[in-house]
Parts: sequence; C-alpha cells; structure tokens
Amino acid sequence: MADTETNDTKKSDSATKQPQCANGANGNNNNKVDNEAENQTKSKRQMKKLLKQQKWEEERELRKQRRKERKQQRRLQRQNRDDEEQLEGDAQNPKKRLRREVTPSPLRLVVDCSFDSLMLMKDVRKLHKQIQRCYAENRRALHPVQFHLTSLGGQLKQSLDERDKGWVNWKEINIETAHYSELIAKEELVCLTSDSPNVLEELDQKKAYVIGGLVDHNHHKGITFEKAKELGIEHAQLPLSSFVKMNSRKVLAVNHVFEIILAYLEKGNWKDAFFTVLPQRKGAVAIGQEGANAAKKEDDDDDSDSDSDPDSSEQTEKRT
Ligand SMILES: C[S@@+](CC[C@H](N)C(=O)[O-])C[C@H]1O[C@@H](n2cnc3c(N)ncnc32)[C@H](O)[C@@H]1O
Repeated sequence: MADTETNDTKKSDSATKQPQCANGANGNNNNKVDNEAENQTKSKRQMKKLLKQQKWEEERELRKQRRKERKQQRRLQRQNRDDEEQLEGDAQNPKKRLRREVTPSPLRLVVDCSFDSLMLMKDVRKLHKQIQRCYAENRRALHPVQFHLTSLGGQLKQSLDERDKGWVNWKEINIETAHYSELIAKEELVCLTSDSPNVLEELDQKKAYVIGGLVDHNHHKGITFEKAKELGIEHAQLPLSSFVKMNSRKVLAVNHVFEIILAYLEKGNWKDAFFTVLPQRKGAVAIGQEGANAAKKEDDDDDSDSDSDPDSSEQTEKRT
C-alpha cells in the first residue's frame, strides 16, 4: 500500500513539472503566448483555406456552365468559318477544306524509288521529305489520286525507318517493293519526264503516271526518259512551256510534279495548276506577262538551284 502511494505521488509530480528554460517562469509564459498566437494565425489560415475551398466547391457548377458556353461559342465560330470558306469555294484556303467534299480520282500516280543506289544519303533524305509532302498533299486534296510508292528499299527505307516510324501506318497509299513494271500493265503506264518530246495535254484517269523518285541535281540527265524507252512505255513532259515562262529550262522536283497533278485535277487547267504549285520566286511567269515581272526575275536568278532546301518546297532543279 505504502509503495503504491509513493508511485502515485511520483507520477503527479512529474505530470505537473514544466519544461525548464533559461528564463525560468517568465520564459514559460512567453512560450505560451507565442504558441497561442501561432495557433491563432494557423487557425486563421486554415479558416481562410476552408472558405476558399467552400467557395471553389460552390462555384463548380458555374465553372462547368461557363466552360460549356465557351466550347459552344468556339464550335459556332468554327462552323461559321467553315461555312464562309465553303461559300468562297475554298479558293483561298484549300487546306481547310471539309473532308465531305472529297471525291477520289481513279488516276494512279506512281513514285518510282528504283534509283535509290544512285543517290547519296543526304539526297535520299531530301527525297524522303518530298515523298512525305506528296503523301500529306494527297491526303488533303479535293481529288486524291491512287498513290503508289514502288521499289521501296535500300537507303530510302532506312531513312523512313529511322526518321519517320509512323510511315508504316500511312493510309491510302500502296507501298510496294516490286518495280512498277511488274505491278501495272505496260499500256496503262505513262512515264513523266522533262526529256520527252511528247507534251501532256490532259490527264487520262485510266492511266498510271510515273514520277522518277530521284534527287540528283541533274547528274543523271535523262535517266527516266531512257528507262521509259527501255521498257517501251509511253512518256510525256508537263506542258510547262505552253503556260509558264521559267528563268531557265527546269526539271521539277518530285513533289512539285505530284502537286501539279493534284492541282490540275482540282482546277481543270494547267495554268492554274502551275501557278498554285510553282513558287513565284523561281521565276515562273505566265506567258504574255513576262515584262511585268522582269525586275523580280533578276532577283530570282541568283538562287534558282535550290534543290538543297527540301523543306521549303523549293526543290526545282535547274537544268544545265
Ligand atoms: C528531279 S526529277 C529527276 C531528274 C532526273 N535527272 C531524270 O532524268 O529523271 C524527278 C522526276 O520528276 C519528274 N519531272 C520533273 N520535271 C518534269 C517535267 N517538266 N515534266 C514531266 N516530268 C517531270 C520526272 O519523272 C523526274 O524523274
């Protein structure tokens, strides 16, 4: 019993003991005041936070409503814009054309990649970009063609694999490792080449037009023309000289030829097709308007061989 009492007394003693500090009793009081003040600021802060949270919760519905309104407004604006563009016949902005107007053309356009081993990797990369451009333009064209990429392999395939992993998912394109002559009947083929004496007057939707997949700075002059003769297939050049006066005789880049065909299918005439696609600074001037642009032409002469800039759509190759 005596033992229990002693233990209880010890317990109550230690329970009432205050922590000691250098200031003695005064120090204890100061700490208390500090703690209370701190608690007050803390609870004020918590209160503020709580009120803020409450307000945020209360306004949740209002915010939702406002978001909905903004979305609706944007949709309306978009709709108005699309309607306006459609009314204008999309003349100024063909890229934003609505997909529902699209009517695919049965015409086949082949990019023949069988010249791969004749190119350095840096030129293969340019060709890669030109092909990407053809693909993108065809996807948004009013009359997309049946796009065939044939003889794909070698350095071009390597470039596609390394730099453009998504190419395997490209849609509405026929990618083949075989040569076009093994895939399409001879009588249906027309090889496009600036060296052909034949001038293309119009496009035959039943034919397959072949563009040589080559960036060669004209080191391999006439190679596609020779190939066409060797295979015994029809050949023709674009009717550039009938509609456009160029700074010099030009061999066009793959994507320019491709885009001119797409533009012809849309506009129905070569002149508009050429002027939609060929950069004015390349000196492309409508026949009969040469004088008007004479000053401009002088500026342009300096950089007419810009096939080194595949990104800027200025890949026209100068014929030497
Ligand atoms: C850069 S060019 C290749 C030039 C290459 N030295 C050759 O003889 O084919 C790429 C391809 O575009 C096409 N091309 C370029 N200019 C053309 C034109 N004025 N008319 C028709 N096709 C053209 C040809 O199919 C050509 O093979």
